Amino acid sequence: VLCDIGFIGLGVMGKNLVLNLADNGYSIAAFDLSNEKVSDAVAQDKAESGSEQARVHGCFSYTELLSKLKPPHLIVLSVPAGEPVDQVCESLVGAGIQPDDIVIDTGNSLWVDTVEREQKYKNKFILFSSAVSGGEVGARFGPSLMPSGSPYAWTRVKPIWEAISAKVDEQTGKPIERTKPGQVVNHGEPCAAYIGPAGAGHFVKMVHNGIEYADMQIICEAYHILREGLGLSPNEIADIFEQWNKGPLDSYLTEISVEVLRQQDQETQKPLVDVILDKAGQKGTGLWTAISSLEVGCPAPTIAQAVFARSISSFKENRVASQALLNGPAPYDIAESDKESFIENLHDAIYCAKICAYAQGFQLMKLAAKEHGWTLDFASIAKIWRAGCIIRAVFLQSITDAFTRDPDLDNLMMDEFFVEQLNNNQANWRKAVADVTMMGIPAGAIASSLSYFDSMRLGTLPANLLQGQRDFFGAHTFERVDKPAGEKYHVEWAEPGRPLIKL
Ligand code: 6PG
Repeated sequence: VLCDIGFIGLGVMGKNLVLNLADNGYSIAAFDLSNEKVSDAVAQDKAESGSEQARVHGCFSYTELLSKLKPPHLIVLSVPAGEPVDQVCESLVGAGIQPDDIVIDTGNSLWVDTVEREQKYKNKFILFSSAVSGGEVGARFGPSLMPSGSPYAWTRVKPIWEAISAKVDEQTGKPIERTKPGQVVNHGEPCAAYIGPAGAGHFVKMVHNGIEYADMQIICEAYHILREGLGLSPNEIADIFEQWNKGPLDSYLTEISVEVLRQQDQETQKPLVDVILDKAGQKGTGLWTAISSLEVGCPAPTIAQAVFARSISSFKENRVASQALLNGPAPYDIAESDKESFIENLHDAIYCAKICAYAQGFQLMKLAAKEHGWTLDFASIAKIWRAGCIIRAVFLQSITDAFTRDPDLDNLMMDEFFVEQLNNNQANWRKAVADVTMMGIPAGAIASSLSYFDSMRLGTLPANLLQGQRDFFGAHTFERVDKPAGEKYHVEWAEPGRPLIKL
C-alpha cells in the first residue's frame, strides 16, 4: 500500500510531526540521511501505536521515498533552514519528483529564500511553505502552522494541517488540551490558517520569533530586577511569576519560566538557573526581524533590543572585566513596606512592554505586507497564535479582538482596549523604569518600550532640529509646519537673515 505523506528530516521536530500525523490517521513514508533516525521513528511509532500495522514506513533513499507515496506526492520537510533545504530539493529533483508534487518546507527559512525557491522549482515541483511553531511538544500534540504559497497546494494540505494543529476552544479562546500519544482533538478552531503567497508565511513566522525574543527578554529582565533589586531567590521569583500567570500575563513563556526557576541542579543542589551560563544563543530569526523592521522603516525597538541583549550577554569576558572598572549607582534599596508596590509596578511595566512588542510586530507585518503586495489577515494571524506556538497567551485573544474590531488598525496601541490598558498602567510602568534605572539594573526591553510608547504618543518630536541639522551640513531641505506637505525649503546657514529658499 502507498503512503499518504512523505516526510524528510526526522530530528526531534520532524519525528514528532510524523507521530502527530500518524495519530491523525495518515500513513507516512519517512526518510532521513541518518538510517538510525529512520529506524528510531519507525520503532517509536510501533511502540506508541501498539499495533502490528505500521503507520510509519522507513525509507532509506529519496527514490524509495517517492516509490512509497500515493501520487501526486505530498512531501513534508523538517530540515534546518538554509543550505539543507536546497540540498533536499535538488535530491528530490534527481529522484524524479513530478511538477504536480508538493513539497512543504516547515523550517524557519528566511522568507526571501522561500520566494526564490518557489520560482526556481516552479516546473519541477510545487514548493509550499508552512512554518511550525511550538517546539517539540507542539509538533507532537498540536503546533501553530503558518502555511503560504500556491493556493492549489493549500487545498490539499488544509485538511491535514487542520487535523494536526493545536485547537482553540471557540467559547473561551483557550487552547484545548492534548497531551497523550494516540489522543486526537477534532473540534475547536484549528491554529492553521493560510497566510498568503510564497514567503508571506515565513515572514509572519519570523515576526512571531521576533516577538518571542522580546517576550522572553522582558521576562528575563523582570527576573533580573527581582533577583538583584529585591534580592529574591529563584523560587520566590517563581512564586511571583506564578501569580502573574493568573492575570493578563498568562502565557506559555511565563509558565515555563516558573518551571525553569524551580528546577534544582542535581549535581550542586543549587537552583539550576544559577549554574546556567549567562550567554544567550540565537539562530537568526530575531535578527532577521530587527533587520526587516529597519528595512521597511518600522520602529521595533523592543524587538531589536531583545536581539542586542542576547549579543551583549555573549560578551561575558568583557562584562566581567568591566565590572572592576565601571561604577554602578549608589545603593538604592526598596523599603520593606514598598516591596509589594514595587512588584506591582514591575508587573504593569512588563504588561505594557509586552503590548509594545506586539504592537511593533504587527505593525511590521502590516508595512511589509504593503511593500510586498500581500493581503494579511491580522485577526486570523493572532487567532492561530492563541495555541500551539511559543508566544501563545491569553493576551492573543485581546489582539484577535482588536483586529476583528478594525482589520486596518495601524498600531495595536491605538485600539480601544489597549489604549485603556496603557493609560491605566503607564504610571506604574514609569515608576518601575525609574527605580530600576536608579538601581543600575539593565532593563533595555522594558525601558526602550516606554520610550517607544512616549515617542508614538507625542504629536511633536525633536526631528525639527534634526531636519535643521541635516539642512545645515548637507542642504537636505526641510518642510514647514505652516506650508503644504511636500514643499521643500533650504536656508543659507552661513548668511543669517537671508530669506528661505523654496525649492
Ligand atoms: C517556535 C520557535 C522555534 C525555535 C526558534 C528559537 O516558534 O517554535 O521559535 O522556531 O525554537 O528558532 O530560536 P533561537 O534559537 O534563535 O532562540
